[in-house]
Amino acid sequence: METKDVLRQRRSVKDFDPDRRVTDEQWTELFELTTLAPSAWNFQHYQLILVQGPEAKKRLRQAAMGQEKVEQASGTVVVCGDLHAYKRARRVAEEFADKGFYGPDGQEKVEKQADMMRDAYANNPEKARDEAMRAASLAAMSLMVAAEDMGLATCPMSGFSPDQVREAVHLPDHLFPVMLIAVGYKGNFNLSRCARLPLEEVVHIDGYGKAFSPQS
Ligand SMILES: Cc1cc2nc3c(=O)[nH]c(=O)nc-3n(C[C@H](O)[C@H](O)[C@H](O)COP(=O)(O)O)c2cc1C
Repeated sequence: METKDVLRQRRSVKDFDPDRRVTDEQWTELFELTTLAPSAWNFQHYQLILVQGPEAKKRLRQAAMGQEKVEQASGTVVVCGDLHAYKRARRVAEEFADKGFYGPDGQEKVEKQADMMRDAYANNPEKARDEAMRAASLAAMSLMVAAEDMGLATCPMSGFSPDQVREAVHLPDHLFPVMLIAVGYKGNFNLSRCARLPLEEVVHIDGYGKAFSPQS
């Protein structure tokens, strides 16, 4: 499908067909496409937890304000921000050197570059959290776009208790839930799409306050 059509067609589906499952092959393709999302220094500051077992679904539904779609959908992906992504700095720097990003004497720069990348987050928890939010959100949108193209339905959710989600899916301290995404096949219930703000209320030219208005 054309990307423009995917974006126009994607909806937050409230009602899933409980009898249709997403296969392992589909999950694999979906996660491969999701992890192509960009992230700062390619650190991939996120982890994905696929909740599809009946007991785990029950626990997650309770943590998600009882939202029925968590049990109805084939699976729900808990998109988590990773505050320890900086621990991959050495691995990232080595690959950057191998791929020639640091120039011909790149191997000599690995140590220094890895330290620099590590320091950017290790001593700055606020930045680590912001970056994790960005990376996880980009991965989440990629997942929804890829799912739509694959004929699957999704619903992003922030209606959950972070502490309860942490407990439900056993998150260690360095991970935090950013978004839940129910994935499966659409049920019968359709909701009209709500309008988006007109571009003049969202887009500004050269600084906040001068509205985008190509006609004038
Ligand atoms: C971060 C985020 C959190 C959301 N949380 C919920 C939620 O907890 N439950 C729900 O039914 N829909 C949730 N939604 C879906 C929105 O209501 C929906 O995206 C919005 O109304 C626009 O509709 P559309 O996605 O079908 O165009 C959420 C969407 C986003 C992006």
